[in-house]
Amino acid sequence: MAESMKGLKRTHRCTEVSNKNIGEKVVVMGWAAKRRNLGSLIFVDLRDRSGILQIVFDVNDVGEEGFKKASTIRNEFVIAIEGTVEKRGGAVNENLLTGDIEIRATTLRILAEADTPPIPIDDEAQTKDEVRLKYRYLDLRKPRIQKNLITRSKITTLVRQFMTEEGFLEIETPMLTKSTPEGARDYLVPSRVHPGNFYALPQSPQLFKQLLMCAGYDRYIQIVKCFRDEDLRADRQPEFTQIDMELSFVDIDDVIDVNERLLKTIWKEVLDVDIQIPFKRMTWQEAMDRFGSDKPDTRFGFELQDISDLVKDCGFSVFSGAIANGGTVRGINITGQGSMPRKKIDALVDFAKGYGAKGLAYIAINEDGSFKSSFAKFMTEDEMKNITDRLEGKPGDLLLFAADRAKIVYAVLGALRCEMAERLGLLDKNTFNFLWITEFPLFEYSDEEQRFVAMHHPFTMPMEEDVEYIESDPGRCRAKAYDIVLNGTEIGGGSVRIHQNDIQQKMFRALGFTDEEANEKFGFLLNAFKYGVPPHAGLAYGLDRLVMHIVGEDNIRDVIAFPKVKDASCLMSEAPNVVDKKQLDELFITSTYDPEQESEEEVTE
Ligand code: AMO
Ligand code: AMP
Repeated sequence: MAESMKGLKRTHRCTEVSNKNIGEKVVVMGWAAKRRNLGSLIFVDLRDRSGILQIVFDVNDVGEEGFKKASTIRNEFVIAIEGTVEKRGGAVNENLLTGDIEIRATTLRILAEADTPPIPIDDEAQTKDEVRLKYRYLDLRKPRIQKNLITRSKITTLVRQFMTEEGFLEIETPMLTKSTPEGARDYLVPSRVHPGNFYALPQSPQLFKQLLMCAGYDRYIQIVKCFRDEDLRADRQPEFTQIDMELSFVDIDDVIDVNERLLKTIWKEVLDVDIQIPFKRMTWQEAMDRFGSDKPDTRFGFELQDISDLVKDCGFSVFSGAIANGGTVRGINITGQGSMPRKKIDALVDFAKGYGAKGLAYIAINEDGSFKSSFAKFMTEDEMKNITDRLEGKPGDLLLFAADRAKIVYAVLGALRCEMAERLGLLDKNTFNFLWITEFPLFEYSDEEQRFVAMHHPFTMPMEEDVEYIESDPGRCRAKAYDIVLNGTEIGGGSVRIHQNDIQQKMFRALGFTDEEANEKFGFLLNAFKYGVPPHAGLAYGLDRLVMHIVGEDNIRDVIAFPKVKDASCLMSEAPNVVDKKQLDELFITSTYDPEQESEEEVTE
C-alpha cells in the first residue's frame, strides 16, 4: 500500500548528503536500487537523479514494524526515509560520492510500490535498443543517461547566459510555417481552416531570423526544435535542436569570434578543459584534398595524396583510364598496417565499394622493403617507387588507392581513413580538434536534378571575387559559408547572407528559379529586404551533436530524452499512428495508402 509523505519534507538529494552532515537528521526520497538483508540489518541503496546513498535499517532505530516494512522493499519502490547521517559502518565504497557515509533510518514510508522493471536500471546492462526505447521512462533512470541530460541542461543554461551577456536577444519563431530552404523533406501539418493547405514544420528558423535582422533586433539567439524528414543516422534525428543565431553589421570574423568564445566557455565550465582559440581554419578545397571530407577528423593522419600526375600514362588501365575520363587517382598511407592479411584487405575493398568505389588498389610494404600489390604487374619499377615515395611509404606500411571521379575518390578515401583510425583505436575522446571549414562552393551540381543547387541555401553570400561568375560559371564560385567541425562531425554551420537585391536575383537565376517561383517561395523575405536590410550573418549548431561530443556518446539518442528510431517512430508512444476518421474528415483528408497493394508489390519483387 502506498503511504503518504505527509509530515516529511525532503531535505537533501542523495549525494547532497556528505560527511559534513554526520550527526544531522535528514529526509531523503528516491528509488530503491538494491536491498540486502544481513540478519539484524537491512541495507538499501537509495537512488535519485544525483546518485546513490546507502540507508541502513536497524530494528532498534526503526522499530519492529518499520524493519518488517523495510524487508518488503523491492527494486524501484519509491521510498522516503528520515534518519541520521553516520560514518559508514562497513568498508568505504570509493566508487560512490557518498561512499563513506550512510543514513541510519528512523522512519520509512513506502510512497509507491513497483513491478519488476522489464529492463535493468543499470548502465552496464546489455539491453537491446528497442527494449530500452520502448521503456524509455525506465531507461532514463540510468545514471549515464541522467548525467547526459543534466549536462545538456547545463549547456543550454550556459549558452543563454553567455549570449545574453554578448547582447543577444532570445526570440521565438513559429513552428507552423512555410517550407524553409534547408534541402530536406518537410514535415507537413494540414490546416483545418484552409482545407487542402498545409503548414510546414521548420527545418530551421532561417527566414525568420533574417527577418528579425531586417526588423532591427541585430543579435538574435534561439534554442529551437527543427524538423527534417530525412534518413536517420547515428548523429541525425527527424526532430532535433539547434542553437540558432543571427547577427547584423558583421562579417565572417565577427561570427567566428563570438562562437569561439562561446565554445571555449562551454568546454571550460562543463568539462574544465581549456580549448585554444582561435581555432584552425581550412578552406573546403584543402579539406577535400587532404582529408577527402568537408568535416575532417584531424586527430590522426592518413592524409590523401594525389598521384594522378604519376600514373596518367601508366599501364594500369584502372588508373590511366580514370584520369582519361576526367577523374583522379589518390592514395592514403595506413602507416604500420603493411602486414594486414589479404582477407582483411579484401574486406576493405568491400568497405570502399559501399562508398561507390569500383575497387581499391593497394601496395602492402613488407618489413624487408619488398611488397605485395594488386597492380604492380602493370607498372614499371620507377612508377612504383614514385608512387610509394609520394605517399612516404615505409617498410610495414599499407598504401590504398582509389581511381574515379573526384567526388567518389574523396568519399571512399575519406571514409577509409576514418574507419582505419577507429579500428586502430586512434580516436581519443578527450582530444577536441575544432576546425572551421571556409570557402565552401556556392553551388553543387545535383546529378538527380541535373542542375546546380545551393550548397548551403540560396541566401548565402558569394565571395566578392566570385560574384561575377554566379551565372556564367557557377561551379567555380565560393561562398561566405563556414562550418564548425569537431573531431569529424559538423557541429554547426552558417554563412554571411546576401542583402543586395542584384546578387540575390543572380543567385535565383543560377539556381533556375523564375521570378514567380522565387516570389512564391520567399516573397515575404524578398519584400522585407526592400525596406532596409542590414548586412547580416549567422550560424546554427546542432545542440544534440554538441552534447554528444561533450559527454562522449556515439549515438545522438543518448543525449535526447525521448528520441526516435531509424524509421522515425517513437517506440514508447508509438507515434506516428492512425487517427480517427473524424479528425481526417475535418481536415478533408483521405489516405491513398493501400497496405494490400504494398504487400502485393513485395511479393512480385
Ligand atoms: P544546417 O542545415 O547546417 O544549417 O544545420 C545546422 C546544424 O544542425 C545540425 N543538424 C542536425 N542535427 C541532428 N539531426 C539532424 N537531422 C540535423 N540536421 C542538421 C548540424 C548542423 O551543423 N539555417 C542554417 C544555419 C545558418 O545558416 O545559420 C542551418 O540550418 O549540426
Ligand atoms: P580489375 O581490373 O577490376 O580486376 O581490378 C584490378 C585491381 O584494381 C583490383 O585490386 C581492384 O580492386 C582495383 N580497382 C578496380 N577499380 C578500381 C578503382 N576505381 N580504384 C582503385 N582500384 C581499383
